[in-house]
Amino acid sequence: MKVQSDFLVIGSGIAGLSFALQAAAHGTVALLAKRDIAETATNYAQGGIASVSSNEDSFDAHVQDTLVAGAGICHEDVVRLVVEEGPQVIANLIEWGVKFTRSTSGEAYDLTREGGHSQRRILHAADITGREIQRALVEAAHAHDNITIYENHAAIDLITESKVLKKKADQDRCLGAHVLDVKAGVVKTFTSRITLLASGGAGKVYLYTCNPDIASGDGVAMAYRAGATIANMEFMQFHPTTLFHPNARSFLISEAVRGEGAILKRRDGTAFMERYHHLKDLAPRDIVARAIDNEMKTHGDDCVYLDIRHRGAEYITSRFPNIYQTCLDYGIDMTKEMIPVVPAAHYLCGGVAVDKNAETDVKHLYAIGEVAFTGLHGANRLASNSLLEAAVYAGRAFHHAVEVLKGGGFHSYPIPEWDSGTATNSDEMVVVSQNWDEIRRFMSNYVGIVRSDKRLARAMRRIELIQDEIEEYYWNFIVTSDLIELRNIATVAQLIVTCAQMRKESRGLNYNIDHPDVDDVNWKRDTFVKKQF
Ligand code: FAD
Ligand code: SIN
Repeated sequence: MKVQSDFLVIGSGIAGLSFALQAAAHGTVALLAKRDIAETATNYAQGGIASVSSNEDSFDAHVQDTLVAGAGICHEDVVRLVVEEGPQVIANLIEWGVKFTRSTSGEAYDLTREGGHSQRRILHAADITGREIQRALVEAAHAHDNITIYENHAAIDLITESKVLKKKADQDRCLGAHVLDVKAGVVKTFTSRITLLASGGAGKVYLYTCNPDIASGDGVAMAYRAGATIANMEFMQFHPTTLFHPNARSFLISEAVRGEGAILKRRDGTAFMERYHHLKDLAPRDIVARAIDNEMKTHGDDCVYLDIRHRGAEYITSRFPNIYQTCLDYGIDMTKEMIPVVPAAHYLCGGVAVDKNAETDVKHLYAIGEVAFTGLHGANRLASNSLLEAAVYAGRAFHHAVEVLKGGGFHSYPIPEWDSGTATNSDEMVVVSQNWDEIRRFMSNYVGIVRSDKRLARAMRRIELIQDEIEEYYWNFIVTSDLIELRNIATVAQLIVTCAQMRKESRGLNYNIDHPDVDDVNWKRDTFVKKQF
C-alpha cells in the first residue's frame, strides 16, 4: 500500500506537531506516531520551557547560562538564535491553546527556576507542562483538514534515491519511508517531497531511564543507515533525580523541585552538594548526577534523598500536584518525608546533524527535536532548553521546507514497495528479549555516568557480536515493532560507544576515568560519525 503526501512527519511530540501545524497551510501532511499520538517524551515533560520573558532577565543571560552548562562546545550562534526566537515560539504555543500557569496576581506567567539558570525564566503548567503542550497541539492537529494522523505506525527505514536507483549519488535524497502498520502487521510505503524526523530520543538504550518506551533512537538509527551524519552521541544526559522505588519505572522528580528549594541529602540527612559546586543543588545537571553517583558509591547507598519539607504542605501540593500524588501512590508523602532518588538516562544531546534550517546532509530530509543535533546543547543540555529547541527548529524547518517545495525538482520515478523476501514468522522471540536486555544492561554498567577505556572496549565487543546476530535474524524473519526497536537500540548503542571512544577527555556528560581532564587543545569540538557504504 502506498501513501503520498507533501510532508511526511515522523513523530507526534512537540517537534513533529509544531512543524505539522505550520506546514499544513502549504500542503498535505502525513504524521506518524509509533504508539498512540500522546505517547511521547513531550507528554512527560515536567519542569517547563525556558524563554526570556521578564524584565530582570535578558537574552545575554540565557545565552551565557546555556554556554556554561554546555561546557565549552555549544555553537554560540545557534544558542543565540534559539534564545532570541524563544518569545515567538512561546507566543505560537499560546496561540495553539497551551495554558501556562500564571502568577498569583494573574497578570504575568509564573516563572520557575532549574539547575544552571541564573534567573527565573521557565514557563510551566504546574508540574505537567508537557502534558498541557501535548494536549493543545494534538487538539489543534486533529482540527486541521490537511493533517492525516497515523497512530501505531512505526517507520522502519528511510527510502533514498540511491536505494531506489541502486547506485550511489554524490548527494543522496530522501523520498519517504517504509512504515510498519503495527496493528495490521503490513508494511506501507509513504512517499513524500519533504521528510521530517521528529522521533525523539533514545533513553531506552539504558536499563534505567525516565523516557517512555517510544524512545528507542529510531530516527538516529534510520538516518545513520540512510547515510546522514550523526554527531556527539557520547553526550547522554542522566537526570539526577528519578524516584527510587521498585515499581516506579524511573518516574521523574522535576528539577523545578530543587529550583523551588529542595536539597539533596544522604540518608542521615547530610546535605552534600556544597562540596561539589558553588551553585550547590542547582549546579548543571552533569555535575549533580556525578555527585550523586559518587555519594552512592562512596557510602554504599542505593539512592540519595530530596528534601523539600521546609516549603510546607500547602505550597508543595499546589505547586507540584502530580509529583506529590505520584509519590503518595508509592507510599511516600513528600510533605513529611524525604524522596528517595537516583539518576537515570534522560536526554540525548547528540543526534542527526543539521544546519540552521534543520536540514540534514541527505537532501529533503530534516530533523528537529531530540533526534537532532543542532549545536545548542554542547556537552550538557541546560534544563528546559529542549522543548524550546524543538519549537524553534520546527519553525526554521518549516520556512526552509516550504521554499524547497516551491522550488520543485522532485523525483518522478516509481518507488518499490517493501519486499519481505523469504522471511517467515519468528518462533524465537527470546532472541529479541535477550539481546534487548543485554544491550540495556551493559550500556548502564559500562557506558553510564562514569566510563573507562576498558569498559567502553567491553561494551563495543558485545555490541559487535549482538549486531551480527540481529542482522541475521532481521533479514530472516518478518519485521515486528520489537525487532525494529532492537535493531535501532543496537545501532544507537554502537554510535554512543564509538563517539565516547573517540573523545579522549572528560567534558560535560562524558566522564572517562582514564582521561579525567578537559582537553581544550584537541577536543573543544564535536564528534561526527557517518556510515561508510
Ligand atoms: P517526543 O516528544 O519524544 O516524540 C517522539 C515521537 O516520535 C513520538 O510520537 C513517537 O511515537 C514517534 N516515533 C519514534 N520513533 C518512531 C518511528 N520509528 N516511527 C514512527 N514514529 C516514531 N525538556 C524540557 O525542555 N523541559 C522539561 O521540563 C522536560 N521534562 C522532561 C521530563 C521527562 C520525564 C522526559 C522524559 C523528558 C523531559 N524533557 C524536558 C525533554 C523533552 O521532553 C524532550 O526532549 C522533548 O519532548 C522531545 O520532543 P520530540 O518532539 O523531539 O520527541
Ligand atoms: C525536569 O523537570 O527536571 C526536566 C527538565 C528538563 O529536562 O529540561
